[in-house]
Amino acid sequence: MTAKELRQKYLDFFKSKGHAIIGSASLIPENDPTVLFTTAGMHPLVPYLMGEKHPEGTRLANCQKCIRTTDIDEVGDPTHHTFFEMLGNWSLGDYFKKEALSWSWEFLTSPEWLGLDKNRLAVSVFAGDEDAPFDNEAFEIWRSLGVSEKRIARLPKKNNWWGPAGITGPCGPDSEMFYWAGASDQVPESFNDDNDLWVEIWNDVFMQFNKREDGSYELLTQKNVDTGMGLERVLTLMNGLDDNYKSELFANIISKIEQLSGKKYGESEATTRAMRIIADHLRAATFIMADDKGVPPSNTDRGYIVRRLIRRAIRYGREIGIAEESWTKEIAKIVAHDYAGVYQELGRNIDKVIDWLKEEEAKFKKTIEKGEAELEKLLSSGARVTGGHAFDLFQTYGFPLEMTKEIIAEKGGEIKNEEEFAEKLARHQELSRTASAGMFKGGLADASEESRRLHTAAHLLLAALRKVLGDHVYQKGSNITAERLRFDFSHPEKMTDEQNKEVERLVNEAIERKLPVTWKEIGLEEAKKEGAMGVFEAKYGAKVKVYTIGNEEVVSKEICGGPHVENTAELGHFTIQKEESSSAGVRRIKAVLS
Ligand code: ALA
Repeated sequence: MTAKELRQKYLDFFKSKGHAIIGSASLIPENDPTVLFTTAGMHPLVPYLMGEKHPEGTRLANCQKCIRTTDIDEVGDPTHHTFFEMLGNWSLGDYFKKEALSWSWEFLTSPEWLGLDKNRLAVSVFAGDEDAPFDNEAFEIWRSLGVSEKRIARLPKKNNWWGPAGITGPCGPDSEMFYWAGASDQVPESFNDDNDLWVEIWNDVFMQFNKREDGSYELLTQKNVDTGMGLERVLTLMNGLDDNYKSELFANIISKIEQLSGKKYGESEATTRAMRIIADHLRAATFIMADDKGVPPSNTDRGYIVRRLIRRAIRYGREIGIAEESWTKEIAKIVAHDYAGVYQELGRNIDKVIDWLKEEEAKFKKTIEKGEAELEKLLSSGARVTGGHAFDLFQTYGFPLEMTKEIIAEKGGEIKNEEEFAEKLARHQELSRTASAGMFKGGLADASEESRRLHTAAHLLLAALRKVLGDHVYQKGSNITAERLRFDFSHPEKMTDEQNKEVERLVNEAIERKLPVTWKEIGLEEAKKEGAMGVFEAKYGAKVKVYTIGNEEVVSKEICGGPHVENTAELGHFTIQKEESSSAGVRRIKAVLS
C-alpha cells in the first residue's frame, strides 16, 4: 500500500460515514500563542470543539501535517518523528464513543479497508481518577467488538488522557489502539505498556472537558470526538515493515543520504540512527520553512527550532562522513518532489527553502570552523578540555557540546568534568532566557552573544532617552531575546519622530566612539553617590556591580548584573523599530542591532 492509497482509504471511509473532508491547516497555528506548531489535527479545530459552528458541519476528517518537538530525543528509533502526518476524524457534538470506537475498529480490521489481523491489536482505556471516572463505557464497547479483556488495558492519565494542545482548552479521556510489530507467532496474550513492540497507531479522544488556567476541568457544552492515526506508522505495518524509515515515504530521502555519505542504511546501528535523524530533521525543517507562513532559521521561537533541526542534521551528516558543502538543500528538493502532490505549498515555496538552507549551512560552517580552531589552540597548549571549556566554545561560537566531544574522542580522549557544561548553561540561561530555548527540549542558547550586545545597547538607550526626554525617564522593565530588545521606560507621551531619531543617533554615536565597557563591585550607597542608575531595592550595605560605559566622559553608569560586551564597537548599528504605549505613563521601545 502506498501513502497516497492509505490517505485516500482513510478519507473515503469517513466520507462514507458522513464526514466532510477538510484540508490540512498550516503548521503555524493561527490564534494560539501558547504553542509554536500545529501538533495534532484537532489543533486548528479548537474553536469548533469549544462550540463554534464549523461551516462544513459536525463530522470532519482530514490528513494534517504536524510537528512535535517533544519527541525529538526519541527520533533515531524506528517509529518516532518530529514531523508526521496525522489522519483524523472529528465529531463536533455529533456522534460519541460508540460510533468512534466501532468505526476505528471497522477501518482497521475490515477486509474492505485495512484488514489488519485482529489478533495483533490491543487497546487501552482511561483507568479513572479524581477528574473523571474509569471509562467503563469504552471498555464495554471494545468487549462488544470482540476484543479480549486481556487486550484492554486500563491506564492512568499519563497514558489515556489527551490535551489540551496548549495550556488551556479541550481535552478528555482517550482510548488508544496498538499493533503488535513483533513476530506474528509471538503475539503476547495481554497488552503491556512497557513493550515497544506494541506500537500505538491510533488514538480516539472523548473531548468533553475544557482545562482552565488554574488546572481545573469544566464540562464543555458539547461532547466531541477527536482522533488521530499516525500515517507513517500505519503505512509501515501495512507493508509488513519493521521500520518507518524503510517505508516509501523515506525511500528517496534515505537513498540520497546514502549517496552523499557513501554509507548504507542498516550497515551499523550508529549509521542507521544518524540517517534517521537526518531524514526526520530535514523533512521537518523543509515542511516548516515551506509552509505558506513558513519561517527561516533564526535564534528565536519557531526559527530557532528550524535552526536546531538543520544544525543537528548537519552534525549527524558529519558523523557519517558527508563532506559535501551545502548538501541539506538536496534533501529538501527530494522532500518537495515527493510531497508536492499532497502539499502544494512545498512546490510553491521550495526556492525560498533552498536559499535559506544554503545560508544556514554557510553560517553553521563558520561557527564550526571558529570553534574547531579554538579547540585546536586549547589542545595544542596541552590543556585537558573540560565541560567549562566546552561551554565557553558553545557560548562564544555556538559550537555544540557534541562536536567538542567528537573531536576530543577522535584524538582518543574525553572531556573532563563534562557536568560543568550543564551547570554553566543552567546559570547562563537564568541570565538570558529565550522563550524558545525553553520550548525546545535540550534547548540551546547560542543566542547568548546577541543578548549580551542588546543588553549593552539597553544601557546606551536609557542614557540617550534621559538626555533627549529628561531626567524623569527611568527604566521600567526590559526583555531581551537574541533578536531584539524591548525596553519600557517612564514617559507620559508618545515620542516625536525627531526625538526618536535623536535617541537613535546618540546610541549610534556611542557605538562609533568605540567606548570601553567596564565594571566594578562597590557598596550600594557608594554606587548611588556616584550617580549610578538602577533599581534600588537591594538591601542597605549590599555590594552591587556597576557597569560604566565610556572613559573620561562617562556615557552610562548603571547598577546591573551583566553580562555586557567589552567595547561598544561590538554592537554594530542600532535601530528603533517601534515606540508605543506599554501602560499608563510607560512607553515601550523595540529595537534591534544589525
Ligand atoms: N489529538 C489526539 C492525538 O494527537 C488524537 O493523539
